[in-house]
Formats: sequence, structure tokens, C-alpha cells
Amino acid sequence: MAEQYDNVGSKYEEFKNKAPLPIPERHTFLKLVGDLRGKSVLDLACGAGHYTRMLKEHGAERVEGVDISPEMVQLARRKEQEHRQGIKYHVFDAAKLPRLDGFDLVTAVYLLNYASTREELLGMCRSANTNLEEGGRFIACTIDPAFDLGKSNWAKYGFEVMSERYEDGRHICRARFRTEPPAEVEYFRWSAATYESVLAEAGFREVAWHPFEVPAEALARFGEDFWREYQENPLLIALSCRK
Ligand SMILES: C[S@@+](CC[C@H](N)C(=O)[O-])C[C@H]1O[C@@H](n2cnc3c(N)ncnc32)[C@H](O)[C@@H]1O
Repeated sequence: MAEQYDNVGSKYEEFKNKAPLPIPERHTFLKLVGDLRGKSVLDLACGAGHYTRMLKEHGAERVEGVDISPEMVQLARRKEQEHRQGIKYHVFDAAKLPRLDGFDLVTAVYLLNYASTREELLGMCRSANTNLEEGGRFIACTIDPAFDLGKSNWAKYGFEVMSERYEDGRHICRARFRTEPPAEVEYFRWSAATYESVLAEAGFREVAWHPFEVPAEALARFGEDFWREYQENPLLIALSCRK
């Protein structure tokens, strides 16, 4: 898993800034995160720091990012050097993260879908829990457990799901970012029941699922028809819970 993003690298940033897919994701994530003033945030699977920087820009007092890929962390650190925001980045496997500190909020935008086993998924959720203060929130974006590749492959949004096969309690999925050249990734689609049992085992309560919302500007810009597949067969979903 570390190597796959070492190869995706800066192509991922291109996708994040140009493709339609991240528009509802950003809107939904920032709405869920809410008022960040005075808060400390740990961003797991921070990648090149796309949301890590945004969390700081939206008022968080202290932000740290963790990613397993040295290449992605190097890109994030380079951005920090170009424009200093006081963000610290660490290379760690989020499934085995020690307690770095007690944070008010832990975020994970597309971390949980890289857990290949239930044990790894539990490790990631435990890492989030260990790094939270009592009452702190964990907010994640992941693959929607109910996605149906038979209905659509999402290529028009910039991320094409190529195949899925069911094995050992989860779907193993292959997809490509429609960048130039395209970048392929493998990830896992877990069931809602597995997520919920793992989150409870890791010490979380008040688990809630939040479908992505397409913001009014995006509906106006691309037209309602464009977003139909996005809303009728969601590939992505957010979840929130509390320690
Ligand atoms: C789709 S990218 C998301 C990056 C960032 N959250 C964003 O939305 O721009 C997924 C990231 O998860 C990281 N990742 C995958 N498995 C991980 C693990 N076990 N621990 C930490 N990071 C991991 C990858 O290296 C990659 O940077």
C-alpha cells in the first residue's frame, strides 16, 4: 500500500484539483468538520496534505499529518516549506500509530478503504481513538459499502472503477485516476456492519453515515444530470463518530 501512492505522487494532486469527484467530497467533509477555531487536528492518510492544509486554513490551531508513503509526505513537506503554516508531517502506518498527542479531531480522508484485513481496519480505528481526547471526534471519508459497479463505474467524475471481486469478507477493487498518464490503485470495499463493529471495538460511539452532498454551485456549473450517477450509486461516503 505504501508503494502504490509513492507511484501516484503528484498525479493525485492534479486529480484533486481538476476532477469533479472531489467537489462534493470537499463540501461534505468541511461541513462535517465544522468550526475548527482553537482545535487541534490529526489528519491520517494526509497524502500530499490537501486537507491537512485546508484544515489549518479553516481555523484549526494545530494540525499534524500522517501518511505511510514517504513520497506523499515529501510532497506535503515541500508545500509546507513553500508556504509555512506550521504543519508537522510524519511517515507512519496508520494501522500501527502510537499516541502522538491528544487531539480534538482526527480525520482520515480515504484511509479506511486501504485496510486489507479486519485487523488492519481495527488498527486504524484504534490509532484514531488513541490520538483523541475524551469526547473528541473522528471523521472519515471512505468507499460506500453499498456501491454497485453493475450500475456505473464513475469514470465521468475522474476515477474509474475497473473491477471488484469478493474475497474474505470484503471486495478487492481496482480503479484508476483518470490523470495523464492514468494512475491505478487497489482498495477494499468493506461492509457497513464490519465498519460499525470495528469502530465500536476501537472505542467509538455515535457512529453516523453521511452521504456526500453536491453543493448548489456544482449543480449549477455541471447541470443536475451530470451528478445523477454520483447521487444514485454513491461510490464514496463520510462517517463520523465520537470517543
Ligand atoms: C487517496 S489518498 C488520500 C490523501 C488525502 N487524504 C487526500 O484526500 O488528498 C490515500 C492516502 O492514504 C495513504 N495510506 C494508505 N494506507 C495507509 C496506511 N496504512 N497508513 C497511512 N497512510 C496510508 C496513501 O499513502 C495515500 O496518500
